[in-house]
Amino acid sequence: MPKKTDWFEHDRFGMFIHWGIYAIPARGEWVKSNERITDEAYQKYFDEFDPEDYDPRAWAKAAKNAGMKYAVMTAKHHDGFCLFDSKLTDYKSTNTKCGRDLIREYLEAFRAEGLKVGLYYSLLDWRHPDYPHYGDRIHPMRDNEAFKGVAHNFDNYLKYMHGQVEELCANYGKIDLFWFDFSYDSLSGEAWKATELVRMIRGYQPGVLIDNRLEASGEGDGSLVTDSPNEYSGDFVSPEQVIPLDGVRDAAGNPVPWEACVTMNNGWGFTLLDKNFKPAPMLIKKLVECVSKGGNLLLNVGPDAKGRIPEESLEILAEIGKWMRQNRKSIYGCGYAGLGKPEYGRITKNAATNTLYYHVMENQVGGIPLHGVKKERIKKMRMLSSGAELDFSRFWALYKYPDIAFVSFGDSALLPDPVDTVIEVELA
Ligand code: GLC
Repeated sequence: MPKKTDWFEHDRFGMFIHWGIYAIPARGEWVKSNERITDEAYQKYFDEFDPEDYDPRAWAKAAKNAGMKYAVMTAKHHDGFCLFDSKLTDYKSTNTKCGRDLIREYLEAFRAEGLKVGLYYSLLDWRHPDYPHYGDRIHPMRDNEAFKGVAHNFDNYLKYMHGQVEELCANYGKIDLFWFDFSYDSLSGEAWKATELVRMIRGYQPGVLIDNRLEASGEGDGSLVTDSPNEYSGDFVSPEQVIPLDGVRDAAGNPVPWEACVTMNNGWGFTLLDKNFKPAPMLIKKLVECVSKGGNLLLNVGPDAKGRIPEESLEILAEIGKWMRQNRKSIYGCGYAGLGKPEYGRITKNAATNTLYYHVMENQVGGIPLHGVKKERIKKMRMLSSGAELDFSRFWALYKYPDIAFVSFGDSALLPDPVDTVIEVELA
């Protein structure tokens, strides 16, 4: 029976895009909260914002060439700045110098490159007068006495928030993913009028996938993993900056769709001084780890104030893409193999083709043991990247393990691909 998450669990790899006027201070998307910046002091970034080099088609090509199959871009982040032409506010990209509906251009460009498209929408809004200020856990004015005792009509804020979500669902074509962020303290579930919100979304976008953050955040799973999920539980769990040790399963032990969102350096939004980029080989291995545990990787880029993805990120994406072009069959359509983790790497499985992919990340002395599969079940073995036939190792010292198939990569002590050499094993 087809499930609406089938494409998501097939595609496995997406691009997260955090962009907005916070790219100008270039100290991350939380700069307004972290530095307790007032609306008045933050206004200069709105007044200045003019991303003259914004080329979403180039972004889409970079994502596609990296092997990414979908993307999620911030339509509104916590600072309340809208990258789309909302009729409910003047605080939007179409009112900045660029005058462009940045979301509409993103959606059109990524669809044109054949990627599925998602929108990130912050439930928080540090600019809206009816969002809690003083005493909130994270609002920029949380301890500014000038806001003590100021009344907020939260229902009015919810009307605004629901109205904007409706604009995004009704006016921008097919949306494949709606990525909310995030619930905290008492602001969770029905505090957002989440049931009403989800029913409205699914009315406009019946096939859309929604994350779990109407009742959770990057650290919680929400009711999706229980035996009685709420109507607003979402369709997938969204672990943040961590890969779940054993994947994600519900109370009955059934796999639950999940997607780890990970930054390339340490920030989501553009951060000028953060040059702590994760090397491509590491991110390739993290993608394989996610898939081997039945999950997805949503890898983030934070474009700068000009609208350019940082060169370091582009180089990493290009290197990931080179590996993906050779080994994509071990990622797309793959998931848990149920064979444990070999000491030299990981195993992914394409259940539809009854094929195992042994990811060898560290060479072995004597031969590569193919855990969990007997020789007589192996129909054929190939080096995935080249299609070259692989044979069993005939090394005499392996006589001790008659039931285990060992593969040899020849006489070299080095792996053909030092990052991850993939053995494709088609089972009878
Ligand atoms: C955290 C951060 C937010 C970021 C999100 C991505 O919730 O607060 O800035 O957009 O992680 O998952």
